[in-house]
Amino acid sequence: MSGALLSVKNLTIDYIGEEKDFRAVDNVSFDVAPGEVFGLAGESGCGKSTIAFAISRLHKPPALIRKESRIVLAGRDVLDLDQQALRNFRWREVAMVFQSAMNSLNPVLRVETQFYDVLRAHKGMTKAQARERTAEMLKLVDISPDRMRDYPHQFSGGMRQRIVIAICMALGPKLVVMDEPTTALDVVVQREILQRINELRKQFGFSVLFITHDLGLMVQFCDRIGIMLAGKLVEQDSAEAIYKTPQHDYTRKLWAPFPSLHGGPQL
Ligand SMILES: Nc1ncnc2c1ncn2[C@@H]1O[C@H](COP(=O)(O)OP(=O)(O)OP(=O)(O)O)[C@@H](O)[C@H]1O
Ligand SMILES: [Mg+2]
Repeated sequence: MSGALLSVKNLTIDYIGEEKDFRAVDNVSFDVAPGEVFGLAGESGCGKSTIAFAISRLHKPPALIRKESRIVLAGRDVLDLDQQALRNFRWREVAMVFQSAMNSLNPVLRVETQFYDVLRAHKGMTKAQARERTAEMLKLVDISPDRMRDYPHQFSGGMRQRIVIAICMALGPKLVVMDEPTTALDVVVQREILQRINELRKQFGFSVLFITHDLGLMVQFCDRIGIMLAGKLVEQDSAEAIYKTPQHDYTRKLWAPFPSLHGGPQL
């Protein structure tokens, strides 16, 4: 696809073992358009998180990305970035929200300080500028700016996750990678957060790579979905086509718990 924001080509990732290597991601290719939500679905262990980490360049040994792999984001070769370029790339180009992200807040620092650290490091903002931006971002996720001097433990899990999302959005990334961003939260809070992210996406135009085990949520939230099986991307199509006219046996099996007689997920 020309004009893609993210282009993943022949991505192959092994976990290097003492005896033998394990191919976790096997020749995976997909594109994500600007403003698009692309979902990755598939059973536990099929390689979704391994892809998410590679795209954010957060993978660590023993994960090894094979030479033929290409990841291009906003015209830049992600796998080629040096350490300096990488610091700018993270947050500014790509932000990652994962399941336990809410626990990544530093418990001994006020929320405003955590925003300030990011905004100072990446945008060179002064305290006053950062405070203004923090208020703006907290409002976007429905948290009162009055609370920016509170500590993480003073917020509920859902609020902490929203704070992390707000920090991620503060630098205006082009791509947000969300790996089970709401799995640790109850269902109502999950939907509220995803709705908020969707509104922010419409407002700011970033793309989302979305990973969840909740297939109903996935179909609702994604424009297109890729189905993974044992490291391979076996099918990718619009959410509607993947749900209504799946081509691959495995995709049909994934939908089995959603008998269409009962309506299935609402499109
Ligand atoms: N550090 C590691 N060392 C060795 N193997 C690993 C490592 N991390 C993951 N794997 C293996 O790579 C495969 C893909 O793992 P990954 O975490 O990407 O799957 P996933 O699709 O995200 O699963 P889940 O839905 O459970 O989160 C799995 O078989 C896993 O056991
Ligand atoms: Mg995972």
